[in-house]
Amino acid sequence: MNGELVRIVKIMRVKHGGDISRYDESFLLKSVEKRMAATSRATMAEYCTYLSEDNGEAEAFLRSLNITYSEFFRNPLTFAVLEQRVLPRLIEKKLESGSAEIRIWSAGCAAGQEVYSVAILLDELLLARQISLAYRIFATDIAETALSSARNGVYDAAAVQNVQLKHIRSSFSEQNGSYTIARRIRERIEFSFYDLLDERSTSPPGSIYGDFDLVFCSNLLFYYTPAIRKFILNKVCHSLSDGGYLVTGEAERSILETINLDEISPMSGIYQKSQACKVMI
Ligand SMILES: C[S@@+](CC[C@H](N)C(=O)[O-])C[C@H]1O[C@@H](n2cnc3c(N)ncnc32)[C@H](O)[C@@H]1O
Repeated sequence: MNGELVRIVKIMRVKHGGDISRYDESFLLKSVEKRMAATSRATMAEYCTYLSEDNGEAEAFLRSLNITYSEFFRNPLTFAVLEQRVLPRLIEKKLESGSAEIRIWSAGCAAGQEVYSVAILLDELLLARQISLAYRIFATDIAETALSSARNGVYDAAAVQNVQLKHIRSSFSEQNGSYTIARRIRERIEFSFYDLLDERSTSPPGSIYGDFDLVFCSNLLFYYTPAIRKFILNKVCHSLSDGGYLVTGEAERSILETINLDEISPMSGIYQKSQACKVMI
């Protein structure tokens, strides 16, 4: 690790108590550059001095490491495969086995765009087929502000600009340019704080035992070191039921490629447990 970065890791440990060495080195360097620009420090050495002397900077730096950007139906191909293949299969499987409910976990849900996207698809599929099947969705994150927005389920016009009109009509109500997710969908989702790096638990405590049919772990792995990525992947794979599906972000497919996983459909970022766990555990 770059010498100045090692210093920053140490300063953060003393000033904040947190271990930022878990983050990927190139991501850390970019974040330091952004904070240098924001605080008008020309060199990393100058920034180190500022970080160790200024009371608010450690908190500001830590906040800059937590990127909460998200979008509805973020990777259209992933959501098309979910709508056409994965969710119909899950519905059939549950009906055939007489299982009580479909269980989904969005790990790193940000302000809810991802979890509402899948909930909208599931809701539409069940309504179109007039099937009464329960589903429960757990959505977790470490960013309290994002969780609070997610619970509200209210978005501005820019946030929904890429959402198809049929989904807007089925699942949102519009008032003065604000779009609110339908209550029947919001009620199915339990938002809570959960740190994926927590070593004492394998799934969000509210879910009791995991056993998820579908887990989203998208657009967060690449912020961490390879060892932490593996820790998170093992955790989410363990929380899946046999034959359950893991959804990752488009840019994270290369991370899963390095550990030799097969996608259920090319470029979809969707993997099945039987294949995933064979190589990881
Ligand atoms: C870039 S956003 C991606 C949101 C969404 N999954 C998507 O793909 O659009 C990454 C999210 O992961 C969350 N996150 C990062 N590290 C986490 C951790 N250790 N445990 C839980 N959530 C985490 C962040 O707070 C952030 O909301």
